[in-house]
Amino acid sequence: MSQDAIPKLSGYSEAALDLAFAELTREVESSAQALNSPESVEQFRLQWLGRKQGRLKLISDAWLKSAPVEAKKPLGQRFNQLKAQIEERLERASGASARFALDAEGIDVTLPGTRRALGPEHPLIKTMHEMVAVFKRMGYSVGVGPEVETDYYNFESLNFPPNHPARDTQDTLVIAGQERKPLRDRLLMRTHTSPVQIRTMEQQPPPVRIVIPGKVHRNDEADATHSPIFHQIEGLCVDTNITFSDLKGTLDHAMKEFFGSSVKTRFFPSFFPFTEPSADVQISCPFCGGKGCRKCKHSGWIELLGCGMVDPAVFGFVQQKQPAYDPKKISGFAFGMGVDRIAMMKYGISDIGLLYSGDVRFLEQFA
Ligand code: DAH
Repeated sequence: MSQDAIPKLSGYSEAALDLAFAELTREVESSAQALNSPESVEQFRLQWLGRKQGRLKLISDAWLKSAPVEAKKPLGQRFNQLKAQIEERLERASGASARFALDAEGIDVTLPGTRRALGPEHPLIKTMHEMVAVFKRMGYSVGVGPEVETDYYNFESLNFPPNHPARDTQDTLVIAGQERKPLRDRLLMRTHTSPVQIRTMEQQPPPVRIVIPGKVHRNDEADATHSPIFHQIEGLCVDTNITFSDLKGTLDHAMKEFFGSSVKTRFFPSFFPFTEPSADVQISCPFCGGKGCRKCKHSGWIELLGCGMVDPAVFGFVQQKQPAYDPKKISGFAFGMGVDRIAMMKYGISDIGLLYSGDVRFLEQFA
């Protein structure tokens, strides 16, 4: 029997009706098999339930018209059953039609989802957090400052004289098109975190105990130990009667907390424009206990940071905004350390570039 044809009824007996409807039921089932796209579902609906040309309408019109009165009820019941069957098939298929839509885009929603690995903390950030945590436990607060800085905060207020070599564009990445501004207002990428010392003191009177982790920039050629972007942690403590022994005690304790209690520190005279006196700090090699190994280049010591007593001239700059920083009444110490080198040592990373490569094969090792 052609699907489009109106099937012939052999009679109106219950047996004849059952036979005819069994055939229609089979047809519904077999055309419902092909419901695999939103278009085919719509096609099926029109084919069976279309208000004008739907088969159900055509067949019921044809059969009911010539039916004897007593056959109308059993016929009607069977049409209702058939309609329910068609509707049930349609419902099932259109429930799945969202899935068909995705299938059409080539997405198989029955496949397991894409697993997105939860990224571990970057070894550099982890090191920075651990070091900052050491100072937090000593009562330090944590601050931040801008990476695009003015010449005033990056150099002048830190007591760098106008022609200091660090101001040279060989070392400093400057923002273009600033020549018409006075030197102090020209923008540059901060070369260290020390400008945040000044910004912090301008914002609050003493006492201050703060660490400032952050990114710094220098016009350095990239190689295994240099990157034009690297990280520092700055520290500043200002109060009445702060002395060099406070500085030594604080840094010695911090290094022991971070690297282990058997680590020793030693201080060498150094120079920074913003501290007087200034010192470089070395720690005994935490890897070989000071015996000498590759990590400490067989010297037993590793140089880690610069520090010193805040130069009174620096307080002088701050006093323009916060008169309470009177160098006759208060004193302070500051320190700055490079984080990248510490992270590289700690994790045995031989090329600083790996920290900035974003290569998951590298980063996965710290998961
Ligand atoms: N800002 C210095 C640098 O980048 C590091 C430094 C040295 C910071 C001594 C300090 C300090 O606060 O007291 O080389």
